[in-house]
Amino acid sequence: MFVAFEGPEGGGKSTALRHLAERWQSRFPEVPLLCSREPGAGELGARIREILLHGTAMPARSELFLFLADRSAHVTQILKPHLAAGGAVFCDRYMDSTFVYQAIARGLDEGFVRTANDFAVEGLLPDLTLLFDLPVEVGLGRIKDKDRLDNEPIAFHQKVREGFLRLAAENPSRYVVIDASQSPEMILEACWAAIESRRA
Ligand code: TYD
Repeated sequence: MFVAFEGPEGGGKSTALRHLAERWQSRFPEVPLLCSREPGAGELGARIREILLHGTAMPARSELFLFLADRSAHVTQILKPHLAAGGAVFCDRYMDSTFVYQAIARGLDEGFVRTANDFAVEGLLPDLTLLFDLPVEVGLGRIKDKDRLDNEPIAFHQKVREGFLRLAAENPSRYVVIDASQSPEMILEACWAAIESRRA
C-alpha cells in the first residue's frame, strides 16, 4: 500500500505521518513500512533537495526538472523495490505536488507537466492521497524556518491550496481531504480511517 501525504505549507502532514507510522507499525508489524519524502530521499535526492530548497533562485523549468529528477530516482531505486518486496510506503509529498506547484502555481504548461510526471513515476500512483487542507494564512503562520518556496507570495500559496482541492475533486477515488485545522487527534483519526478502509 502506498499513501501520499499532500497539501499546502504548514498543514502538519509530516507530524501526522510520524504518528500514523507508529500506529501502522504496532497494528501491522508484518508489513514493513517505509516513511519517505520528496524532495530528498536517498543520496541523489538529498543533494537535489539542497539545491531546490536552499539554493539560489532558478527558472521555473529548471525547478520542474529537478523535482522530476528527484522523483524518478526515488521511484526506481527506493519506492518500487520496497513495494515489490511486500512493504508499504508513507510518502511526504509526491507527484501531485509537482502538478500543483510547478503547473498550477508557477504556470508551466499543465499538459506537459502531467506527461513529464507520468514519465517520472513509471506507472506508480498512490493507492491513497491524504490532502491536509487549511487556510494558507494559518499554515504559513505555523512555519518557523522558511525555505525558498515558503517565501513565495501569499497568492502563490492560495493557488497551491486551490490546485490541490481541484485534484481532489478530479480524483475522488484516490483522494481523502483532511481538515487540517481540526485538533491533532481528530486529524489522526480521519487519516487512520482512510488508511484502514483502503487497506481492506
Ligand atoms: P519540505 O520542507 O520538504 O516540506 P513541506 O513543505 O511539505 O513541509 O518542502 C518541500 C517544498 O517543495 C514545498 O514547498 C513544496 C515544494 N515542492 C514542489 O514545489 N514540487 C514538488 O514536486 C515537490 C515534491 C515539492
